[in-house]
Amino acid sequence: MFHFHLVFVFPSLLVRASRGRSSFISSNFISRYAWTSRWVESKHKSDYGKFKLSAGKFYGDAERDKGLQTSQDARFYALSTRFEPFSNKEKPLVVQFTLKHEQNIDCGGGYVKLFPSTLNQEDMHGESEYNIMFGPDICGPGTKKVHVIFNYKGKNVLINKDIRCKDDEFTHLYTLIVRPDNTYEVKIENSKVESGSLEEDWDFLPPKKIKDPEAKKPEDWDERAKIDDPEDKKPEDWDKPEHVPDPDAKKPEDWDEEMDGEWEPPVIQNPEYKGEWKPRQIDNPSYKGKWIHPEIENPEYTADSSLYAYDDFGVLGLDLWQVKSGTIFDNFLITDDEKLAEEVGNETWGATKEAEKKMKEQQDEEQRKKQEEEDKKRKEEEGDEEAEGEGEDNEEDEEEEEEEEPEKEGEGEEEETEGPLKDEL
Ligand SMILES: *[C@@H]1O[C@H](CO)[C@@H](O)[C@H](O)[C@H]1NC(C)=O
Repeated sequence: MFHFHLVFVFPSLLVRASRGRSSFISSNFISRYAWTSRWVESKHKSDYGKFKLSAGKFYGDAERDKGLQTSQDARFYALSTRFEPFSNKEKPLVVQFTLKHEQNIDCGGGYVKLFPSTLNQEDMHGESEYNIMFGPDICGPGTKKVHVIFNYKGKNVLINKDIRCKDDEFTHLYTLIVRPDNTYEVKIENSKVESGSLEEDWDFLPPKKIKDPEAKKPEDWDERAKIDDPEDKKPEDWDKPEHVPDPDAKKPEDWDEEMDGEWEPPVIQNPEYKGEWKPRQIDNPSYKGKWIHPEIENPEYTADSSLYAYDDFGVLGLDLWQVKSGTIFDNFLITDDEKLAEEVGNETWGATKEAEKKMKEQQDEEQRKKQEEEDKKRKEEEGDEEAEGEGEDNEEDEEEEEEEEPEKEGEGEEEETEGPLKDEL
């Protein structure tokens, strides 16, 4: 049988894993210089955002961490690459890639789509029919999930579970495994975050059982567990008014019936009042329990043992929208070998993540120091130029002013001169 040990590493070289691990590294390296010829930008719209090859602002390895980076804000992106077509019938399918939202993403897609080979890449767009969509989607604090969408008989079916994605600025490894026994697994950083059965976690098929439309609750079906005790009777002296005139109240001496009307004593709560009488509750002798609607086999249901299978994969696409750009996609891998995927994950994301983190921490530290020095310098300069003792207030005003539109600058200056004057008064 044809093994689709497809190692499809950034940016586009398709290598059979059986050629050995070393080809993975070398193809990875070589292909970085020819990526533009292997990826096709859709012309469906004229204003798609551009991808560029970049390792970003911080990385673990300047060469190996180069990936496809979105470079323009508030754009749709539509880029794809073709590989030797294959079917995943009777084989596992592993889709894996790394993703880095180094821009601290606010809203945007971070997923890949696997298309059949029949896709016209130059016309790829949001509605182009795909087989599988997999990867993170972030929008505001409300949406931070990993999509796993399968096309089933022409319909896109979303997973019923909520898989949370990473939302920081570092590179993360995302893996989807779909197996011929119709189970699946989603991994982040080579660790399982979700797994189960395709049939249970997606609504591919109508439900196996449905409520019998013929069945009806019998009219005499008694669902009351307790009933009023027919023996229990209200005591004759039960009923007493809730409020009674205050027996201690006395008509004021200066009450003038002509002026004030007839005197009535104020009412008070009746201490003998017993409230509403309710009969004692007893077990209902004809209680039958809650009626359960009987279920029957759903005539619309037909089992499908090949939910996982697709005849034809041929294109991997990045079809997404991003508000703030800067996301880097890298280390794409499609294979039928779960272990190989884990190894590749280790050799790519695993090998550079620590160094990436370190570089980011250094940059943050340098940035912090620089900011500190700038603040200090500004303070000193302001101290020289302006009246002593007002440094702090002025600085705050100025910082706000810098962020404002140019035409507002006048206002800002006014405020600034106003501040110290007020203080002096
Ligand atoms: C990947 O790395 C982890 C952590 O070091 C290790 O436990 C695991 O065995 C590795 N997997 C493979 C397939 O090499």
